[in-house]
Amino acid sequence: MGRIPEDIINKIVEYNDIVDIISEYVQLKKVGRNFVGVCPFHNDKGPSLSVSQDKQLFHCFGCGAAGNTIGFVMKIRNCDFKEALFYLAERAGIEINFDEGKDKDKDLKERLYKINLDAARYFYNNIRTSKTALNYLYSRGIDNKIINRFGLGFSLNEWDALINYLKKIGYSIEEMSLAGLLVKSEKGIYDRFRNRIMFPIFDVKGRVIGFGGRVLDDSKPKYLNTSETLVFEKGKNLYGLNYVVKNKNLYSIIVVEGYMDCIKLHQFGLNNVVASLGTALTIEHAKLLKRYTNNIYICYDSDAAGQAATLKGIEILESIDLNVKVITVPSGKDPDEFVKKNGIEEFKKLIENALFITDYRILKVKEGKNIKNQLDKVKYINDVINIISKLKDEVLIQHYAEQLSEETGISLNVIIDKLNKNRANITIKNNNSNIRNNIKGNIYNLVPANKKAEAFVLSSLLNNPSFYEKVFSNLKPEEFLTDVYKELAYEMSIKIPKGETIDKNYFLNKYQEQDKMEDIARVFSFSTDSQDNLEKLLDDAIKTVKRFKLEDKINSLKSEIKKCELENDIHKSIQLMQNLIELQKELDQI
Ligand code: CTP
Ligand code: MN
Repeated sequence: MGRIPEDIINKIVEYNDIVDIISEYVQLKKVGRNFVGVCPFHNDKGPSLSVSQDKQLFHCFGCGAAGNTIGFVMKIRNCDFKEALFYLAERAGIEINFDEGKDKDKDLKERLYKINLDAARYFYNNIRTSKTALNYLYSRGIDNKIINRFGLGFSLNEWDALINYLKKIGYSIEEMSLAGLLVKSEKGIYDRFRNRIMFPIFDVKGRVIGFGGRVLDDSKPKYLNTSETLVFEKGKNLYGLNYVVKNKNLYSIIVVEGYMDCIKLHQFGLNNVVASLGTALTIEHAKLLKRYTNNIYICYDSDAAGQAATLKGIEILESIDLNVKVITVPSGKDPDEFVKKNGIEEFKKLIENALFITDYRILKVKEGKNIKNQLDKVKYINDVINIISKLKDEVLIQHYAEQLSEETGISLNVIIDKLNKNRANITIKNNNSNIRNNIKGNIYNLVPANKKAEAFVLSSLLNNPSFYEKVFSNLKPEEFLTDVYKELAYEMSIKIPKGETIDKNYFLNKYQEQDKMEDIARVFSFSTDSQDNLEKLLDDAIKTVKRFKLEDKINSLKSEIKKCELENDIHKSIQLMQNLIELQKELDQI
């Protein structure tokens, strides 16, 4: 796909006012020249989100999220630059006509969707004539309505039933092979799925992309799935999502492991369940989910494998800021078996009792430990401290620290002490607490300290070109660690002395990656109007930038020295050591 021309991008931005767009998600209130609201990108209750209509930029003082209209849409809809543009263009009635480029696989993909659909219809028709298959499903408590809804079917106990059918209606062996429907071996070509209950797998648009087939007895393998094809990638799809997204009032999505779990819960009216089909949750899954909701329940089997998958899964879901809770199904059961035995109302209770991930993680580290045993207790306390020290919310940390103290009988002071030591290891070192506290961000600000300082220097300069001397007599553009800031600094160092202005839109549209866009927007959205003692803050920020650069140099020098030592290159190592001492001196002088 070709690049969208810049004038069209500008037009799309111009026709979609940022205040309108953000208002669709956040209630905004006008305060002075700006609008403020609760930031949708981190857990917050205060009005940390600031939206500037003049600049058409937003900025959050809490989590550091920033951007223009496109950036906001990318972040909130979790889509890429182009998808955001298409969304905004459509919204404003702007046609994007540029060279579509040819998706060379497009025709083949269409053909694969079609052959899969025909195969699904074929399997579906079989089930009505196969008593054993139907009885198997009935015996599992699956009713006709759900068989129809999910298009369940049956593959005959023959070697070439599907092949013959598909041949008859005009498909080639090659096409069947590309769709993953047959097996080629020395013995010849035969149907991949034989004598199995067939679960067609749909993508979110409802197209059939593959199948899972289950045996009717205890033989192995229990399930056979379509191998990866051009249209079927397991790590990118969630079974049942096409039905879930039809939900008008979707508040949350429950992720289970298996086909049976998924359809059974749907049968009992839980129409927000998807299955990850026994594969580990991927970041693609998480992003897909985030398009439809921020609230995820994970409900895997209670066996060891299921629990390990849960711990991995929550980490992935959490990494893109989804709110995750864990539903625990007791005593070696999966959701399907649980519902069969205890009924749906009991399962709903499990949902209500779902654990926040921190509670779940704490529960997991407690397993197998006896708190009365001294060694176990120490280990438990350390494990819990590791878990809670990563939390962003101070109140939550306090809550868990108190809970831990009560539970173990260790004084709260000792726990808080340990906690702080632990946190010092993971927060980014910044000796310059002044700037950190003064630039409205709080200590849990997700933006690393070096970026914050770099952005501060650049926005001060942008707002007050008279700082040119101060900034560039102390700092070279190369001293900025963040690539986009290096570039922006370089541009400013050349343009400001010529009296030229920096083109905000040029920089905002230059990068199409979310994080880079955010870095740029941060500089342009920051206003230094209301900052008193700006010069002092700027001095501090310049020092911080220098310090980070030096630390960065020192770190790479240290690893180089280590390498020399390993290679026994004493001579070079001594030489580097001298450089190190000099850099260290320089650092001390800042
Ligand atoms: N799975 C698979 N291949 C296997 C076993 C499992 O692809 N040999 C996938 C299937 O998607 C299955 C999921 O992993 O639905 C969960 O496995 P499991 O818990 O064993 O199956 P259930 O869904 O509980 O199936 P059933 O209740 O029919 O035994
Ligand atoms: Mn099961």
